[in-house]
Amino acid sequence: MLKLKDIITLSREFYDKVKPFDSYYGYEEHVVTVGACASIISAACGLDVMKAGIMGYAHDIGKLISCEKKDKTFHGLTGYEYFKSIGENELAQVCLTHSFPNINFKIEEYISYGKENIEKSKSILQTINITDYDRVIQLSDLLVNFDGRNVLYDNIKGRMTYIENAYNVNHKNIRIKYKNAIRLKLYLERKYNINIYKLLGVK
Ligand SMILES: [Fe+2]
Repeated sequence: MLKLKDIITLSREFYDKVKPFDSYYGYEEHVVTVGACASIISAACGLDVMKAGIMGYAHDIGKLISCEKKDKTFHGLTGYEYFKSIGENELAQVCLTHSFPNINFKIEEYISYGKENIEKSKSILQTINITDYDRVIQLSDLLVNFDGRNVLYDNIKGRMTYIENAYNVNHKNIRIKYKNAIRLKLYLERKYNINIYKLLGVK
């Protein structure tokens, strides 16, 4: 697997080329914090902490490779295709899976990312064996904001409100997303006998 320094360098190069946001730092704060959450949760679960941290840092790289809105792409698929193209299969998988806590989703739940992108993502997901690393990154991403303020939310509900407003996701789909997030949290808590909010110091 690529080292942290390699991914930081790659990310910065992609950002400088594409400039998908006004500032790189909202992005960086997000992925660093997702990596930190993923490492802490993984340590409590007895998983590989280093691997989870790298995955957390790398999971959103697709957002730097193309401009989602302008190019009508979906960052999960963009990141997946990029890491696949350089033989980084585990990083590719986490890029794709991080947005889908329930792989049996309906296309309309993610329609804002474009029907074709989501159909393609869904068909790849059917061939993937979801691991607890995927789940840890999914959950970490569900707790960490993207705008550089309140980067670690108090709870999943706060992050849902942010997603609803920032990405203009309809309320019904947010409720589905919230249910999936809670199911995911309970799955990890029961399997590893941990309390995720307590681990991270959130409520
Ligand atoms: Fe993310």
